[in-house]
Amino acid sequence: MKKFPKKLAKKLSGREEKGVLRQLPLQINSIDFSSNDYLGFAKSQEIFELSHEYLVSENLMSNGATGSRLISGNNKLYELIESQIAKRHQSESALLFNSGYDANIGFFSSVPQRGDIILFDELIHASIRDGIKMSAAKSYKFYHNDVAHLEELLRRNGKVKEENTIYVVTESVFSMDGDSPDLGVLSEIVSKHEAFLVVDEAHALGVLGNNYLGLSDDKSVFATIITFGKAMGSHGAAVLCSDKLKEYLINFARSFIYTTGLPPHSLATIAMSYQLLEKSEESKRLQENIQFFKKELKRLDLTEKFINSNSAIHCCIISGNKEVKKVTDQLQKEGFDVKPILSPTVPENQERIRFCLHSYNSYQEITQVLELLSTFVNQ
Ligand SMILES: Cc1ncc(COP(=O)(O)O)c(C=O)c1O
Repeated sequence: MKKFPKKLAKKLSGREEKGVLRQLPLQINSIDFSSNDYLGFAKSQEIFELSHEYLVSENLMSNGATGSRLISGNNKLYELIESQIAKRHQSESALLFNSGYDANIGFFSSVPQRGDIILFDELIHASIRDGIKMSAAKSYKFYHNDVAHLEELLRRNGKVKEENTIYVVTESVFSMDGDSPDLGVLSEIVSKHEAFLVVDEAHALGVLGNNYLGLSDDKSVFATIITFGKAMGSHGAAVLCSDKLKEYLINFARSFIYTTGLPPHSLATIAMSYQLLEKSEESKRLQENIQFFKKELKRLDLTEKFINSNSAIHCCIISGNKEVKKVTDQLQKEGFDVKPILSPTVPENQERIRFCLHSYNSYQEITQVLELLSTFVNQ
C-alpha cells in the first residue's frame, strides 16, 4: 500500500468518527428530488442532438479546446456565444469560464484589491468564499439577507471609499436555503453607499425572473455570475459585466488564464440550452410544481419546518446530523432521491433535508414524498 501522511489520516478518521465522512454516492434509479437539473435539460435528447448538428454545421468537430483561450483554445463559438448571452441578459458583455467555481474564484481573487472591502452574505457559496480568501482585500460577512446589518457595515467602512472600493456580494437564490434577498432594496442601499454589487445567479437562471433569466437587474449590478450546470443542464459559467471588466478579467483572472478552455461541445450545448429555455414550457411547469409543493406543505402542516422559498430549492430543518440522516434514509428507502445537508456544510442545528424540485416531478411524487416526510417529522 502507498504511504499516507499521518495528519491526513487523522482528519479522515475524525470525519468518520463524527459520521460526516463524504463518500461518492452510486447513481440510483429513484425519484429525483436532489439534482440541480431543474428543467430536465441535462437529459434532453433534443439539446444533445441539436448541439451535435450545430457543431457539424459550424465545422467544429473537435473534442477539446486544445489550450487556454489566450493561446489556442479560443474557437469561434466562444465569441459568438458570449455575445448571444450578453444580448439575452441585456448586459454589455459576457465572459465564459469553465465552471461557476472557476468564475467565482477568478473574479474574487482578482477584482477586489488591497485596501478594498468585501461585504458578503454569511451564507454565500463556498466558491465565493474561496475566491475571497485568495484576495488581498479585507472581508466582512453580514447576517443572512439582513440589509440593516449590511448598511451598518457600509457606514462603518465608509471612509475607505475615498481611495478604495467596497464590493457587496450576494446570491439571488441561496444554494443551501433556496431563499432570496430583496435585490431591489439591496441594490438601492449599495448604490446609496457608492459600493459595487455582485450577484451569483447560479440557482435563478432558468427558474426565476423575466423570461426565466434570473433576478438581478443589470443596471444596478457591477457583475452577475450565471452558471450552466444547474437549470441549463450543461456546464460552464459566465460573468455578465461591462466591456472594461471583461478586459480586466481576461488579463488578471487566473482561473480564466491558466486553464484549458471549454470544449466546443460544451459551448454548443450552452447555446442550445438557451434556445430550448426560450421556447419550452419547462420553466413554467417548474413554477407550477413549486406552487404545488408549497400548497402541500400547508395542507400537511409542514410549512413551519421549511425555510420559506419561491425557488426550486426547499429545505426542511431537522436538527442534528444523526436525526436528519435517519429521516433521509427512510425517504430514500421508499424510493425518493433526497439528500441530507449536514454540519459543517451548514451550521450546527441547521441540518436539513434539501428538496430540489424539477419540471419533471409529478404532483403525485410531490404528494407522496411530503406525506411520508410528515409521518416522520410530525410525530
Ligand atoms: C451559488 C453557487 N455558485 C457557484 C456554484 C459553482 O458552480 P459550478 O457547479 O458551475 O462550479 C454553485 C454550485 O454549487 C452554486 O451553488
